Amino acid sequence: MERSVDSLLSLYRPENPLEKASTIPSPWYFDPRIARLENERVFAHTWQVAGRVDQVREKGQYFTVELGDEPIVVVRGEDGVLRAFYNVCRHHAAAVVTEVQGCAKQFRCPYHGWTYGNDGTLKGMVEFEGVCDFDRTKNGLVAIAVDTWENFVFVNLDGSAGSLKDFLANVPDLVAPLRLTEKLNFLDRRIYTLNCNWKVYVDNYLDGGYHVPHAHKGLSSVIEYTSYTIENFDRACLQSSPLSSDSGSEASVANTRLGRAFYLWLYPNFMINAYEGVMDTNLVLPLAVDKCAVVFDYYFGDTSAAAEERNRQSIRVSEVVQDEDMAICDGFRKKLLENHGLVCIKQNTILDVPANGTREHDLFEVPAFFYQVIQVVFVRDAYHALLDDRSVVENFRDVVGSRAENFYATVIGLLVRLGAKERGQERVVNVDDALRKIFDELW
Ligand code: FES
Ligand SMILES: [Fe+2]
Repeated sequence: MERSVDSLLSLYRPENPLEKASTIPSPWYFDPRIARLENERVFAHTWQVAGRVDQVREKGQYFTVELGDEPIVVVRGEDGVLRAFYNVCRHHAAAVVTEVQGCAKQFRCPYHGWTYGNDGTLKGMVEFEGVCDFDRTKNGLVAIAVDTWENFVFVNLDGSAGSLKDFLANVPDLVAPLRLTEKLNFLDRRIYTLNCNWKVYVDNYLDGGYHVPHAHKGLSSVIEYTSYTIENFDRACLQSSPLSSDSGSEASVANTRLGRAFYLWLYPNFMINAYEGVMDTNLVLPLAVDKCAVVFDYYFGDTSAAAEERNRQSIRVSEVVQDEDMAICDGFRKKLLENHGLVCIKQNTILDVPANGTREHDLFEVPAFFYQVIQVVFVRDAYHALLDDRSVVENFRDVVGSRAENFYATVIGLLVRLGAKERGQERVVNVDDALRKIFDELW
Protein backbone atom coordinates (compact mmCIF):
# COMPACT_ATOMS: atom_id res chain seq x y z
CA MET A 1 0.00 0.00 0.00
CA GLU A 2 1.29 3.43 -0.88
CA ARG A 3 2.51 5.38 2.11
CA SER A 4 0.75 8.62 2.86
CA VAL A 5 2.58 11.91 2.35
CA ASP A 6 2.31 12.53 6.07
CA SER A 7 4.09 9.30 6.84
CA LEU A 8 6.80 10.13 4.28
CA LEU A 9 7.32 13.47 5.94
CA SER A 10 7.45 11.96 9.39
CA LEU A 11 10.35 9.73 8.33
CA TYR A 12 12.68 12.62 8.98
CA ARG A 13 13.45 13.66 12.53
CA PRO A 14 14.33 17.34 12.46
CA GLU A 15 14.59 17.39 16.23
CA ASN A 16 17.65 15.16 16.17
CA PRO A 17 20.83 16.88 17.32
CA LEU A 18 23.46 17.48 14.67
CA GLU A 19 25.58 14.49 15.63
CA LYS A 20 22.57 12.28 14.96
CA ALA A 21 21.46 14.11 11.85
CA SER A 22 20.81 12.03 8.79
CA THR A 23 20.25 12.42 5.11
CA ILE A 24 16.63 13.16 4.33
CA PRO A 25 14.52 10.07 3.59
CA SER A 26 14.90 8.56 0.15
CA PRO A 27 11.24 9.02 -0.94
CA TRP A 28 11.80 12.75 -0.67
CA TYR A 29 14.06 12.40 -3.68
CA PHE A 30 11.76 10.46 -5.96
CA ASP A 31 8.12 10.65 -4.84
CA PRO A 32 6.19 13.03 -7.14
CA ARG A 33 3.90 13.97 -4.26
CA ILE A 34 6.88 15.35 -2.36
CA ALA A 35 7.97 17.27 -5.46
CA ARG A 36 4.49 18.76 -5.75
CA LEU A 37 4.53 19.68 -2.11
CA GLU A 38 7.88 21.40 -2.55
CA ASN A 39 6.48 23.44 -5.40
CA GLU A 40 3.47 24.45 -3.35
CA ARG A 41 5.15 25.03 -0.02
CA VAL A 42 8.73 25.96 -0.84
CA PHE A 43 9.04 27.44 -4.30
CA ALA A 44 5.71 29.25 -4.21
CA HIS A 45 6.46 30.90 -0.86
CA THR A 46 10.12 31.78 -0.84
CA TRP A 47 11.93 34.59 -2.60
CA GLN A 48 13.27 33.07 -5.78
CA VAL A 49 16.02 34.43 -7.98
CA ALA A 50 14.39 35.10 -11.35
CA GLY A 51 17.09 36.98 -13.22
CA ARG A 52 19.61 39.79 -13.09
CA VAL A 53 19.27 43.52 -12.58
CA ASP A 54 21.51 44.11 -15.61
CA GLN A 55 18.80 42.52 -17.77
CA VAL A 56 16.26 45.15 -16.71
CA ARG A 57 18.34 48.23 -16.11
CA GLU A 58 16.68 50.39 -18.78
CA LYS A 59 13.05 51.41 -19.15
CA GLY A 60 11.15 48.81 -21.13
CA GLN A 61 13.71 46.03 -20.62
CA TYR A 62 12.14 42.73 -19.66
CA PHE A 63 12.86 39.04 -19.27
CA THR A 64 10.63 36.02 -18.91
CA VAL A 65 11.16 33.01 -16.73
CA GLU A 66 9.28 29.99 -15.42
CA LEU A 67 8.96 29.50 -11.71
CA GLY A 68 7.74 25.97 -11.20
CA ASP A 69 4.85 25.87 -13.63
CA GLU A 70 4.24 29.59 -13.46
CA PRO A 71 5.33 31.81 -16.37
CA ILE A 72 6.64 35.16 -15.13
CA VAL A 73 7.66 38.38 -16.84
CA VAL A 74 9.84 40.95 -15.09
CA VAL A 75 9.90 44.39 -16.68
CA ARG A 76 11.06 47.93 -15.92
CA GLY A 77 8.25 50.33 -16.73
CA GLU A 78 8.43 53.71 -18.43
CA ASP A 79 8.30 55.17 -14.93
CA GLY A 80 11.52 53.34 -14.00
CA VAL A 81 9.74 50.99 -11.58
CA LEU A 82 10.64 47.31 -11.71
CA ARG A 83 7.57 45.05 -11.75
CA ALA A 84 6.84 41.36 -12.13
CA PHE A 85 3.69 39.74 -13.47
CA TYR A 86 2.28 36.37 -14.27
CA ASN A 87 2.93 36.17 -17.98
CA VAL A 88 -0.64 35.11 -18.59
CA CYS A 89 -3.14 36.97 -20.73
CA ARG A 90 -6.33 37.96 -18.92
CA HIS A 91 -8.37 37.04 -21.97
CA HIS A 92 -7.67 33.37 -22.55
CA ALA A 93 -4.50 32.67 -20.59
CA ALA A 94 -2.00 32.65 -23.46
CA ALA A 95 1.58 33.68 -22.68
CA VAL A 96 1.66 37.38 -23.49
CA VAL A 97 5.42 37.79 -23.75
CA THR A 98 7.07 35.09 -25.79
CA GLU A 99 10.66 36.35 -25.96
CA VAL A 100 13.24 35.37 -23.34
CA GLN A 101 14.24 39.00 -22.98
CA GLY A 102 13.97 42.27 -24.82
CA CYS A 103 12.76 45.84 -24.61
CA ALA A 104 9.20 47.03 -25.25
CA LYS A 105 6.83 49.81 -24.33
CA GLN A 106 3.92 47.46 -24.54
CA PHE A 107 3.21 43.78 -24.99
CA ARG A 108 0.78 42.34 -27.50
CA CYS A 109 -0.69 38.94 -26.75
CA PRO A 110 0.01 36.69 -29.75
CA TYR A 111 -3.33 34.91 -29.44
CA HIS A 112 -5.99 37.61 -30.00
CA GLY A 113 -3.91 40.74 -29.89
CA TRP A 114 -4.79 42.27 -26.53
CA THR A 115 -2.16 44.81 -25.53
CA TYR A 116 -0.67 45.62 -22.15
CA GLY A 117 1.58 48.47 -21.09
CA ASN A 118 4.93 47.62 -19.59
CA ASP A 119 3.39 48.60 -16.28
CA GLY A 120 0.95 45.71 -16.72
CA THR A 121 -2.17 47.76 -17.44
CA LEU A 122 -4.52 46.47 -20.10
CA LYS A 123 -4.45 48.99 -22.92
CA GLY A 124 -6.56 47.57 -25.69
CA MET A 125 -8.77 44.66 -26.67
CA VAL A 126 -9.33 43.85 -30.32
CA GLU A 127 -12.98 43.85 -31.48
CA PHE A 128 -14.27 43.99 -27.94
CA GLU A 129 -16.85 46.70 -28.33
CA GLY A 130 -20.22 45.97 -26.81
CA VAL A 131 -18.98 43.57 -24.16
CA CYS A 132 -20.82 44.33 -20.95
CA ASP A 133 -19.54 44.36 -17.38
CA PHE A 134 -15.90 44.29 -18.35
CA ASP A 135 -13.65 46.64 -16.44
CA ARG A 136 -10.43 47.17 -18.36
CA THR A 137 -8.70 48.69 -15.35
CA LYS A 138 -9.24 45.53 -13.38
CA ASN A 139 -7.86 43.25 -16.05
CA GLY A 140 -4.22 44.15 -16.25
CA LEU A 141 -1.51 41.52 -15.89
CA VAL A 142 -1.55 40.07 -12.39
CA ALA A 143 1.35 41.45 -10.38
CA ILE A 144 3.64 39.45 -8.14
CA ALA A 145 6.17 40.64 -5.59
CA VAL A 146 9.58 41.61 -6.95
CA ASP A 147 12.67 43.06 -5.30
CA THR A 148 16.40 43.18 -5.89
CA TRP A 149 19.59 42.64 -3.96
CA GLU A 150 22.99 43.14 -5.53
CA ASN A 151 22.57 42.15 -9.21
CA PHE A 152 19.86 39.61 -8.45
CA VAL A 153 16.16 40.03 -9.17
CA PHE A 154 13.96 38.05 -6.81
CA VAL A 155 10.25 37.34 -7.13
CA ASN A 156 7.83 35.81 -4.68
CA LEU A 157 4.56 34.16 -5.69
CA ASP A 158 3.18 34.44 -2.18
CA GLY A 159 1.08 37.58 -1.96
CA SER A 160 1.53 37.74 1.80
CA ALA A 161 5.24 36.95 1.92
CA GLY A 162 7.56 38.93 4.17
CA SER A 163 10.13 41.26 2.65
CA LEU A 164 13.19 40.12 0.71
CA LYS A 165 15.29 41.91 3.32
CA ASP A 166 13.86 39.71 6.06
CA PHE A 167 14.28 36.61 3.94
CA LEU A 168 17.94 37.36 3.25
CA ALA A 169 18.60 38.10 6.93
CA ASN A 170 22.41 38.33 7.39
CA VAL A 171 23.28 37.15 3.86
CA PRO A 172 23.96 40.70 2.59
CA ASP A 173 26.44 41.17 5.46
CA LEU A 174 28.21 37.95 4.50
CA VAL A 175 28.42 38.99 0.86
CA ALA A 176 29.20 42.69 1.41
CA PRO A 177 33.01 42.24 1.61
CA LEU A 178 33.00 40.86 -1.94
CA ARG A 179 31.61 44.21 -3.22
CA LEU A 180 29.85 42.33 -6.01
CA THR A 181 27.90 45.16 -7.59
CA GLU A 182 30.87 47.46 -7.58
CA LYS A 183 33.50 45.00 -8.78
CA LEU A 184 31.89 42.30 -10.91
CA ASN A 185 30.12 42.29 -14.26
CA PHE A 186 28.01 39.60 -15.84
CA LEU A 187 29.66 37.97 -18.85
CA ASP A 188 28.04 34.69 -19.78
CA ARG A 189 25.36 32.14 -18.93
CA ARG A 190 25.34 28.34 -19.20
CA ILE A 191 22.45 26.04 -18.40
CA TYR A 192 22.95 22.40 -17.50
CA THR A 193 20.28 19.73 -17.23
CA LEU A 194 20.83 16.99 -14.69
CA ASN A 195 19.03 13.70 -14.32
CA CYS A 196 18.53 13.96 -10.60
CA ASN A 197 16.25 15.51 -8.06
CA TRP A 198 17.15 19.15 -7.43
CA LYS A 199 18.04 18.41 -3.81
CA VAL A 200 20.77 16.02 -4.90
CA TYR A 201 22.56 18.96 -6.49
CA VAL A 202 22.07 21.05 -3.36
CA ASP A 203 23.24 18.18 -1.11
CA ASN A 204 26.35 17.86 -3.20
CA TYR A 205 26.98 21.59 -2.96
CA LEU A 206 26.54 21.55 0.78
CA ASP A 207 28.69 18.61 1.65
CA GLY A 208 31.26 20.96 3.01
CA GLY A 209 34.05 20.42 0.58
CA TYR A 210 34.08 16.80 1.70
CA HIS A 211 34.15 15.64 -1.89
CA VAL A 212 36.47 18.33 -3.23
CA PRO A 213 39.80 16.53 -2.65
CA HIS A 214 38.45 13.45 -4.36
CA ALA A 215 36.01 14.50 -7.02
CA HIS A 216 37.65 17.80 -8.02
CA LYS A 217 41.37 17.17 -8.33
CA GLY A 218 42.03 20.41 -10.22
CA LEU A 219 40.17 22.65 -7.79
CA SER A 220 41.59 20.73 -4.88
CA SER A 221 45.11 21.56 -6.03
CA VAL A 222 44.64 25.16 -4.83
CA ILE A 223 42.24 24.73 -1.89
CA GLU A 224 43.79 24.67 1.56
CA TYR A 225 41.50 21.94 2.64
CA THR A 226 42.72 21.75 6.23
CA SER A 227 41.48 25.32 6.71
CA TYR A 228 38.14 24.81 5.00
CA THR A 229 35.36 26.22 7.18
CA ILE A 230 31.60 25.95 7.21
CA GLU A 231 29.18 28.29 8.90
CA ASN A 232 25.48 27.58 9.06
CA PHE A 233 22.80 30.21 9.37
CA ASP A 234 19.01 30.11 9.39
CA ARG A 235 18.62 30.06 5.62
CA ALA A 236 22.19 30.06 4.39
CA CYS A 237 25.46 28.22 4.60
CA LEU A 238 28.87 29.72 3.94
CA GLN A 239 31.79 27.50 3.03
CA SER A 240 35.13 29.17 2.73
CA SER A 241 38.75 28.29 2.26
CA PRO A 242 42.05 30.02 1.69
CA LEU A 243 43.66 29.29 -1.65
CA SER A 244 47.26 28.76 -2.52
CA SER A 245 49.10 27.20 -5.40
CA ASP A 246 52.43 25.49 -5.88
CA SER A 247 54.18 23.51 -8.59
CA GLY A 248 51.67 20.70 -8.12
CA SER A 249 48.68 22.91 -8.79
CA GLU A 250 46.83 22.80 -12.06
CA ALA A 251 47.92 25.87 -14.01
CA SER A 252 44.51 27.02 -15.26
CA VAL A 253 43.04 26.65 -11.79
CA ALA A 254 45.94 28.44 -10.10
CA ASN A 255 45.61 31.24 -12.66
CA THR A 256 41.90 31.82 -12.08
CA ARG A 257 41.27 30.80 -8.46
CA LEU A 258 42.97 33.41 -6.31
CA GLY A 259 42.28 35.02 -2.95
CA ARG A 260 39.78 33.07 -0.92
CA ALA A 261 37.12 30.61 -2.03
CA PHE A 262 33.66 31.82 -1.00
CA TYR A 263 30.76 29.42 -1.49
CA LEU A 264 27.42 30.68 -0.25
CA TRP A 265 24.14 28.79 -0.44
CA LEU A 266 20.85 30.60 0.05
CA TYR A 267 17.82 28.47 0.84
CA PRO A 268 16.51 26.77 -1.09
CA ASN A 269 18.26 26.83 -4.47
CA PHE A 270 20.70 29.68 -5.07
CA MET A 271 24.48 29.67 -4.73
CA ILE A 272 27.20 32.29 -5.06
CA ASN A 273 30.73 31.09 -5.75
CA ALA A 274 33.41 33.75 -5.68
CA TYR A 275 37.18 34.10 -5.89
CA GLU A 276 39.22 37.22 -6.47
CA GLY A 277 37.72 38.95 -9.52
CA VAL A 278 35.71 35.85 -10.47
CA MET A 279 32.20 34.77 -9.56
CA ASP A 280 29.50 32.44 -10.72
CA THR A 281 26.00 31.98 -9.41
CA ASN A 282 24.02 28.75 -9.59
CA LEU A 283 20.26 28.62 -9.65
CA VAL A 284 18.84 25.12 -9.29
CA LEU A 285 15.44 24.69 -10.89
CA PRO A 286 13.37 21.54 -10.41
CA LEU A 287 12.06 20.35 -13.78
CA ALA A 288 10.61 17.04 -12.60
CA VAL A 289 11.09 14.87 -9.58
CA ASP A 290 14.15 13.31 -11.21
CA LYS A 291 15.35 16.21 -13.34
CA CYS A 292 16.65 19.67 -12.66
CA ALA A 293 18.36 22.52 -14.47
CA VAL A 294 21.24 24.52 -13.06
CA VAL A 295 21.68 28.03 -14.43
CA PHE A 296 25.27 29.27 -14.21
CA ASP A 297 25.84 33.02 -14.56
CA TYR A 298 29.50 33.99 -14.85
CA TYR A 299 30.80 37.34 -13.63
CA PHE A 300 34.26 38.88 -13.80
CA GLY A 301 35.99 41.94 -12.46
CA ASP A 302 37.54 42.66 -15.83
CA THR A 303 35.39 41.97 -18.87
CA SER A 304 37.57 43.89 -21.33
CA ALA A 305 38.98 42.24 -24.44
CA ALA A 306 42.36 42.03 -22.71
CA ALA A 307 40.88 39.74 -20.06
CA GLU A 308 38.92 37.57 -22.45
CA GLU A 309 41.31 34.64 -22.57
CA ARG A 310 41.65 34.48 -18.81
CA ASN A 311 37.88 34.74 -18.37
CA ARG A 312 37.33 31.92 -20.84
CA GLN A 313 39.92 29.89 -19.00
CA SER A 314 38.06 30.55 -15.74
CA ILE A 315 34.77 29.40 -17.26
CA ARG A 316 36.47 26.24 -18.49
CA VAL A 317 37.72 25.57 -14.97
CA SER A 318 34.13 25.94 -13.70
CA GLU A 319 32.88 23.65 -16.43
CA VAL A 320 35.29 20.94 -15.40
CA VAL A 321 34.07 21.17 -11.80
CA GLN A 322 30.48 21.17 -13.01
CA ASP A 323 31.10 18.11 -15.17
CA GLU A 324 32.60 16.35 -12.17
CA ASP A 325 29.62 17.29 -10.00
CA MET A 326 27.16 16.26 -12.70
CA ALA A 327 28.77 12.86 -12.94
CA ILE A 328 28.29 12.42 -9.22
CA CYS A 329 24.74 13.77 -9.13
CA ASP A 330 23.66 11.71 -12.11
CA GLY A 331 25.17 8.73 -10.34
CA PHE A 332 22.40 8.79 -7.80
CA ARG A 333 20.51 6.11 -9.59
CA LYS A 334 16.81 6.39 -9.25
CA LYS A 335 16.61 2.64 -9.15
CA LEU A 336 18.89 2.48 -6.17
CA LEU A 337 16.93 5.12 -4.41
CA GLU A 338 13.60 3.51 -5.05
CA ASN A 339 14.56 -0.04 -4.35
CA HIS A 340 16.91 0.33 -1.49
CA GLY A 341 16.43 3.65 0.13
CA LEU A 342 19.00 6.32 0.53
CA VAL A 343 21.21 5.59 3.42
CA CYS A 344 20.66 7.53 6.54
CA ILE A 345 24.19 8.40 7.38
CA LYS A 346 25.67 11.69 6.52
CA GLN A 347 29.23 12.83 6.86
CA ASN A 348 28.26 14.98 9.79
CA THR A 349 27.78 11.82 11.78
CA ILE A 350 31.36 10.83 11.42
CA LEU A 351 33.05 14.18 11.27
CA ASP A 352 32.20 15.27 14.77
CA VAL A 353 30.88 18.68 13.85
CA PRO A 354 31.21 20.99 16.82
CA ALA A 355 28.11 22.61 18.22
CA ASN A 356 28.85 25.98 16.68
CA GLY A 357 28.50 24.44 13.24
CA THR A 358 32.01 25.32 12.09
CA ARG A 359 34.57 22.67 11.59
CA GLU A 360 37.77 21.89 9.84
CA HIS A 361 38.44 18.69 8.06
CA ASP A 362 41.07 16.70 9.82
CA LEU A 363 39.87 13.18 9.53
CA PHE A 364 40.70 10.27 7.37
CA GLU A 365 41.32 10.23 3.68
CA VAL A 366 38.31 9.02 1.77
CA PRO A 367 37.81 8.18 -1.86
CA ALA A 368 35.73 10.42 -4.07
CA PHE A 369 32.73 8.24 -4.20
CA PHE A 370 32.81 7.32 -0.54
CA TYR A 371 29.64 9.20 0.14
CA GLN A 372 27.86 7.36 -2.64
CA VAL A 373 29.19 4.04 -1.53
CA ILE A 374 27.89 4.69 1.93
CA GLN A 375 24.56 5.65 0.50
CA VAL A 376 24.36 2.58 -1.62
CA VAL A 377 25.38 -0.03 0.87
CA PHE A 378 24.52 1.07 4.31
CA VAL A 379 20.88 0.15 4.68
CA ARG A 380 20.18 -3.25 6.07
CA ASP A 381 18.35 -4.57 3.03
CA ALA A 382 20.33 -2.78 0.42
CA TYR A 383 23.27 -5.07 0.14
CA HIS A 384 21.12 -8.16 -0.32
CA ALA A 385 19.35 -6.45 -3.16
CA LEU A 386 22.63 -5.27 -4.60
CA LEU A 387 23.86 -8.80 -4.74
CA ASP A 388 20.63 -10.12 -6.19
CA ASP A 389 20.20 -7.58 -8.92
CA ARG A 390 22.82 -7.58 -11.65
CA SER A 391 21.70 -4.26 -13.11
CA VAL A 392 22.20 -2.60 -9.78
CA VAL A 393 25.64 -4.11 -9.51
CA GLU A 394 26.42 -2.80 -12.98
CA ASN A 395 25.19 0.65 -12.04
CA PHE A 396 27.30 0.51 -8.96
CA ARG A 397 30.30 -0.36 -11.03
CA ASP A 398 29.55 2.64 -13.26
CA VAL A 399 29.49 4.89 -10.27
CA VAL A 400 32.82 3.87 -8.85
CA GLY A 401 34.32 3.15 -12.22
CA SER A 402 38.00 2.80 -12.88
CA ARG A 403 39.11 4.20 -9.58
CA ALA A 404 38.21 0.98 -7.89
CA GLU A 405 41.72 -0.29 -7.16
CA ASN A 406 42.76 2.16 -4.54
CA PHE A 407 39.69 2.46 -2.46
CA TYR A 408 38.68 -1.01 -1.46
CA ALA A 409 40.79 -1.03 1.68
CA THR A 410 39.85 2.49 2.64
CA VAL A 411 36.16 1.93 2.29
CA ILE A 412 36.29 -1.27 4.22
CA GLY A 413 38.18 0.48 6.98
CA LEU A 414 35.76 3.34 7.04
CA LEU A 415 32.72 1.20 7.04
CA VAL A 416 34.04 -0.92 9.83
CA ARG A 417 34.52 2.26 11.74
CA LEU A 418 31.05 3.44 10.83
CA GLY A 419 29.65 0.06 11.70
CA ALA A 420 31.18 0.40 15.11
CA LYS A 421 29.55 3.77 15.49
CA GLU A 422 26.21 2.41 14.43
CA ARG A 423 26.38 -0.75 16.49
CA GLY A 424 23.57 -1.02 18.95
CA GLN A 425 21.38 1.15 16.78
CA GLU A 426 18.57 -0.01 14.63
CA ARG A 427 20.30 -0.19 11.27
CA VAL A 428 23.25 -2.35 12.18
CA VAL A 429 24.60 -4.38 9.33
CA ASN A 430 27.64 -6.53 9.28
CA VAL A 431 29.49 -4.14 7.08
CA ASP A 432 32.58 -6.26 6.76
CA ASP A 433 30.74 -9.22 5.34
CA ALA A 434 28.36 -7.15 3.29
CA LEU A 435 31.09 -5.18 1.65
CA ARG A 436 33.38 -8.08 1.06
CA LYS A 437 30.56 -9.77 -0.79
CA ILE A 438 29.83 -6.70 -2.83
CA PHE A 439 33.40 -6.06 -3.75
CA ASP A 440 34.00 -9.69 -4.54
CA GLU A 441 31.12 -9.40 -6.97
CA LEU A 442 32.56 -6.31 -8.54
CA TRP A 443 36.28 -7.00 -8.64
S1 FES B 1 -5.45 35.04 -24.95
FE1 FES B 1 -4.46 36.91 -25.07
S2 FES B 1 -5.66 38.03 -26.41
FE2 FES B 1 -6.72 36.20 -26.23
FE1 LIG C 1 31.51 19.63 -6.27
